[in-house]
Amino acid sequence: MDFRHQIAASAGLAGIDVDALVLVVAGAVDPTLSPPLADLVSNAVAEGDLVLKKGRSLFLYRPAGVTARRVVIAVAGDAGAKAFRSALAEGLAALKSSGAQTLGIAMGSADALTEAHAEAAVLATADATYLYTHTKPSATPGWTPKAVTVYGAKSDARAIQQGLRRGTAIAAGVKLAREFANRPGNHCTPSWLGQQAKKIGKEFALDVEVLDRKGIEKLGMGSFLAVSQGSAEPPRFIVARYNGGAKAQPPVVLVGKGITFDTGGVSIKPAAEMDEMKFDMGGAASVLGTLTAVAMLKPRLNLVCIVPACENMPDGRSVKPGDVVTSMSGQTIEILNTDAEGRLILCDALTYAERFQPAVVVDVATLTGACVIALGHHHSGLFTADDDIASRMQAASVAAQDPCWRLPLDEEYDEALKSNFADMGNVGGRPGGAITAAMFLRRFTGKYPWAHLDIAGTAWKSGAKKGATGRPVGLLTHFVLAHAR
Ligand code: BES
Ligand code: MN
Ligand code: ZN
Repeated sequence: MDFRHQIAASAGLAGIDVDALVLVVAGAVDPTLSPPLADLVSNAVAEGDLVLKKGRSLFLYRPAGVTARRVVIAVAGDAGAKAFRSALAEGLAALKSSGAQTLGIAMGSADALTEAHAEAAVLATADATYLYTHTKPSATPGWTPKAVTVYGAKSDARAIQQGLRRGTAIAAGVKLAREFANRPGNHCTPSWLGQQAKKIGKEFALDVEVLDRKGIEKLGMGSFLAVSQGSAEPPRFIVARYNGGAKAQPPVVLVGKGITFDTGGVSIKPAAEMDEMKFDMGGAASVLGTLTAVAMLKPRLNLVCIVPACENMPDGRSVKPGDVVTSMSGQTIEILNTDAEGRLILCDALTYAERFQPAVVVDVATLTGACVIALGHHHSGLFTADDDIASRMQAASVAAQDPCWRLPLDEEYDEALKSNFADMGNVGGRPGGAITAAMFLRRFTGKYPWAHLDIAGTAWKSGAKKGATGRPVGLLTHFVLAHAR
């Protein structure tokens, strides 16, 4: 799919030559809109076929006086980029089974298109046309237009162009993250993730290092290794670097949880929905997706992406409840529950991150069921003691339309991690489970500014639409890009 921009006044929209035109209307129709289109809308409204309420849309095939072979009128709640994106999602759904090769997107009300609108147009289109086929080649082929053109006023041209560029990069990152996370655990193994990271490195000329068990042992990552020891799949530790800034510029470091399958280990999970634990590498997928987006955009900054990857399996060699391990930091951990494995692999990766003297470290993990209970599937959980990082993260989440919500990290919660047999236990009980998990990680992040994103509720969807979302690639990409300014 190729995204472009063309200058077109509202008066000219009836004459544009595309197979399908999605016209987003927010409130009153643009008085300068070409009469055939303006009449279509007002007639449809007058006759009750279209209600000017958000979420409504109308599909028209070969309407008279309009060059576009199909027109979809999609109603937005307001003129903002968020409403634009949901109206487009609605409108594009009407084209799902169409044969349109060329798609046009335009605003049918007298509102300017901003950078955010253009980005939203790309992401909505990418979302509407994504189809997982890797292990289901028989899937009914989806609809994918060859060329997508966003039409806007001359005064908006620069903004639209920049939005399309950023949207295209984020869409590529989201697609990669969805593709990786959707792959079953027998395909997406730690070694496969390592190979993919190498491939991304080759494509964008990045430094990518993939350590095997021996290398991980050398680093003294006793906690990470404890999780991996019950699996026949060897662990991998991936470090990928994008160097777009000056050598001395402290990097942004992203750390992604890469559990390619989480059975819970000896503290085994119930059978229901356990298949969804193939998505437990969603953090890793989003970090590699963000790396891709950033590498495409080439900002002047340095980015390091770290992925500890392994399986969490029950076995004769598995780590057992009560086992005490020594993390890379030297702190000892009593593993009270082998299902709280994400924090055990992340803590060593967070210690490893110290060597980069980072400007900021953000870890991303499908970490706790408790976060899903707290925030549901809309907001990712954000944890940081740093108010400045929190507000930058919130701003990025709004700009990317990829919401996150801050939860507390007060010292008082640390109490729950006390152990009689080690420096800490790896679980803090049911109350505030997402917070105590973050408190555990916090014990390894004293040397740099840090934030943690719990994406357990947002990385994938369950039910009929089961599949990875690619979140929070948008949020992370915006956060990283803001660092360059
Ligand atoms: N990967 C899970 C978290 C998870 C569970 C994400 C369900 C999405 C849906 C994580 O490794 C885990 O098992 N966490 C435990 C921690 C508990 C043992 C303290 C949990 O949330 O139950
Ligand atoms: Mn687990
Ligand atoms: Zn897990």
